Amino acid sequence: MKVLAASSVAHPNIALAKYWGKRAIPGNYPAVPSLSVTLDGMATRTTLRFDPRLTEDRFILGNELVLGRPLERITKLVDEVRSEAGFTTRASIVSANDFPTASGLASSASGFAALALAAVTAAGLEWSPARISDLARRASASAGRSIYGGYVRLDAGPLAGDGSQELAAEPVAPASAFPMKVVVCVTHEGAKAVASTDGMIRTMQTSPFYERWLSYGVENEQALREALLANDFARVGQLAEASALAMHASALACGVSYFNGATLEIMKQLRLLREVGLQVYGTIDAGPHVKVLVRPDQEPIVTPKLRAITGVVRTIVATPGGEPRVERIEASA
Ligand code: DP6
Repeated sequence: MKVLAASSVAHPNIALAKYWGKRAIPGNYPAVPSLSVTLDGMATRTTLRFDPRLTEDRFILGNELVLGRPLERITKLVDEVRSEAGFTTRASIVSANDFPTASGLASSASGFAALALAAVTAAGLEWSPARISDLARRASASAGRSIYGGYVRLDAGPLAGDGSQELAAEPVAPASAFPMKVVVCVTHEGAKAVASTDGMIRTMQTSPFYERWLSYGVENEQALREALLANDFARVGQLAEASALAMHASALACGVSYFNGATLEIMKQLRLLREVGLQVYGTIDAGPHVKVLVRPDQEPIVTPKLRAITGVVRTIVATPGGEPRVERIEASA
């Protein structure tokens, strides 16, 4: 049987302990460990078809042909699969997110995870989830984590080497082990100003706080993982908020700012809500939106309060879950 095409589904994830910064070796290895939660309900669906008629890879995202840097990153990932499978046939890739690309949910994480799964399957390779995670991580480190559902850890990469060493994410706990809701507070419709890769490279090269961020990131991830496994919601929330603030402090110190006025207003309101007994904690990625971590029983009280904050355009309530899967395989005899 020769496999030709495969369709896959993968879900976005949000880092509770953030990755920010890369090792100084090839291979896109993170400089700090990270711990994330993969989300249910939102998905990227990707169909990849190897097509001998094509002379270049072709990428369509949400009905639009995409060229330039995103296409180059895709071709690089598929090239690794082609070289392992021993052929050079180009691929057509059709992908769609069922959540808005600019919603502040990392579409690159679910996008490259879905792509890695579809490419490996369509090439007829039988790779372990760890190997697929390593492939996705090389394209975008956060994507390595979307190869698993629930709570997932990605270690920091090696300090030295030629980039060939495997580094895969690993599951830490199933979604059911730590009940939580994530309320995404969207504060701006439209693309972000500085892509995360560019923002972190500038931080690595010019931030006076980068070295401290690296040591803090290690401590924070370990403490957060322990709190998660001990089912301590308040401590997980505090450490997640602290991780985001430390990451943004290191970026802000060299002029990389992702905040808008609403970002800061939401963080202030979360402090006030905690004073009246609600367990709410914010985390912020490379964009102005705030993702609020809340206990499931408090979510119905909290979401209307978040929606009422000036500058919140809309909210999306997400739940941990989200194993990726292959939905369809097409093969010739
Ligand atoms: C702030 O995974 O998008 O979301 O590896 O360069 O593609 P590249 O970066 P990416 O960075 C994610 C940064 C973050 C934190 C996180 O998800 O850990």
